[in-house]
Amino acid sequence: MCGIVGYVGKSQAAPILLDGLSKLEYRGYDSAGMAVYDGSKIEYEKAKGRLRLLSEKTHDGATMQGTIGIGHTRWATHGEPSETNAHPHLNEDETIAVVHNGIIENYAKLKDKLIKRGYNFKSETDTEVVAHLLDYYYKAGNDPLACVTKVMHRVEGAYALGIIFADYPDQIYSVRKDSPLIVGLGKDGNLIASDVPAVLKYTREVYFIENEEIARLSEGSIEFFDVDGQPIEKQSKTIDWDVDAAEKGGYDHFMIKEIHEEPKTVRDTLNPRIKNDTVDIEELGMTDEEIRAISRIRIVACGSAYHTGVTAKYVFEDMARIPVEVDIASEFRYRNPILQENELVIAISQSGETADTKEAVRMARAMGNMTLAIVNVVGSSIAREAEKVMYTWAGPEISVATTKAYSAQLIALYLLAMKFADVRGLLPADEMKSLIADLKKLPEQIEMLLGNKERIQKFANRFVAAKDVFFIGRGIDYAISMEGSLKLKEISYIHSEAYAAGELKHGTISLIEEGTLVAAVATQDNIYPKTVSNIVECKTRGAFILAVTTVGHEDIEDVADYVMYIPQTNKYFANSLAIIPLQLFGYYVSVGKGFDVDHPRNLAKSVTVE
Ligand code: AGP
Repeated sequence: MCGIVGYVGKSQAAPILLDGLSKLEYRGYDSAGMAVYDGSKIEYEKAKGRLRLLSEKTHDGATMQGTIGIGHTRWATHGEPSETNAHPHLNEDETIAVVHNGIIENYAKLKDKLIKRGYNFKSETDTEVVAHLLDYYYKAGNDPLACVTKVMHRVEGAYALGIIFADYPDQIYSVRKDSPLIVGLGKDGNLIASDVPAVLKYTREVYFIENEEIARLSEGSIEFFDVDGQPIEKQSKTIDWDVDAAEKGGYDHFMIKEIHEEPKTVRDTLNPRIKNDTVDIEELGMTDEEIRAISRIRIVACGSAYHTGVTAKYVFEDMARIPVEVDIASEFRYRNPILQENELVIAISQSGETADTKEAVRMARAMGNMTLAIVNVVGSSIAREAEKVMYTWAGPEISVATTKAYSAQLIALYLLAMKFADVRGLLPADEMKSLIADLKKLPEQIEMLLGNKERIQKFANRFVAAKDVFFIGRGIDYAISMEGSLKLKEISYIHSEAYAAGELKHGTISLIEEGTLVAAVATQDNIYPKTVSNIVECKTRGAFILAVTTVGHEDIEDVADYVMYIPQTNKYFANSLAIIPLQLFGYYVSVGKGFDVDHPRNLAKSVTVE
């Protein structure tokens, strides 16, 4: 995610902004910038790459004189990482500067309107729209507060904004909706920031800004307003976290923090692609003819990304009736693979840097096939190698074990399958509407599942000494089992394997003995009875059965020793819910074993070597 910092007070602003931004580097970024009012105008500097480059460019801020300013570290969502796309963004007169964290979902429509009104854009970002929109309302005679409220009523999506106006050089305006923002009450000045670590050096007294609240800061005052510009009162809080805890937002590890970000990740990846009760993936530039011509889909990926591909196979084949092959990228590369003409190759990668997946994309392109990358890092190698890109807007994922990026990949794949089925005439409008309604429920359903974490932690503590764990399921439940198994083994170092439930009796069931934990995933109604039979097979051999199933299948309690229920959802989307208790299970077993959850032994966040 992007990082925002702002300062107004007695001291020089630029060094404070750089210091604050350095405390937000853990959030991941690809460029940075600052704007400072120097007494007569807004001066700004930007740099692609590490924050150090911005510091060097400004001699640690010394070249930017002024006691009020805003700063930003950018995690690209719209527009490649570049100096031009880096924040802050300004109006054409350079009298208004803005920094932004989030996604303006309707920026394209607003940009068109502003261009028609004669505005010229320099960048590819959604944020620049805000700068020109503020200019439009300011020139219409509104004061800064009124400008901000009018912009809030026009933009859709998630935003935390820091804004300065040259005509009001002693005030910072800040506002948020669905992106974090805090205000720090300092001794010699006041601050805004995306997160607590940026201000701890200056103050532990902070205000947490709620959705659609506005803050106006000056050297000696902080005022708050509602979305209509009416004054409101807020209470400050005293932060007793240390910096390390603050970077994790008060959570013990990045992994549990990122699991709790999954509702937002799902929303951010989904919402900009739903328009008028249908799927809008214009961003891919795929024509209906190209979609209709797809003869087969080949998914290439590694690890958890591969597991989302296995889920996608079931969804694409059942919904869009397109045959799908899912390949581990390192296998695809060396198998002298055969690709059909018009076979679409989809590469899935959180980092966008996985060597095997990147090479698989290169091979597919060399064979003349269309390549589509689903990646989380804008401008990453795989994003640049593939012909088409569909971003997952999960924000930077710090923990080595992927959780929120995995969930975002599922959303991207569901949307692709729905679009392909729709274009191929296999998804009537009412079914599309129903699927979209189910997708939109997922964030709140994930929130609800997260409410069970204490119960899951208690259960996990009973298995910290487990030696072998099996995850079984059929169809999409088998794909879910793969990811549940990987989550457990990669952070708790317990041997675990996922098995197609119907396959166990062909040998592996001989490993089941008294007390062996078998996690059985049973969310798919059409094969539920079969999975129950497989559970019984394990149970009769002494297994301890953990069942993950949908509300309504309470009968499973007759055969399972412990049940984790997920809410009803469309069969295609069950993975997005069933994975939550399994991510939590793996996390709490690792915590129970006292391991460094975020940095598991032998693993790296991105496997850029073969
Ligand atoms: C998952 O928790 C692992 N960190 C790993 O399997 C990962 O999914 C795999 O290395 C693929 O990485 P990518 O998505 O960045 O390509």
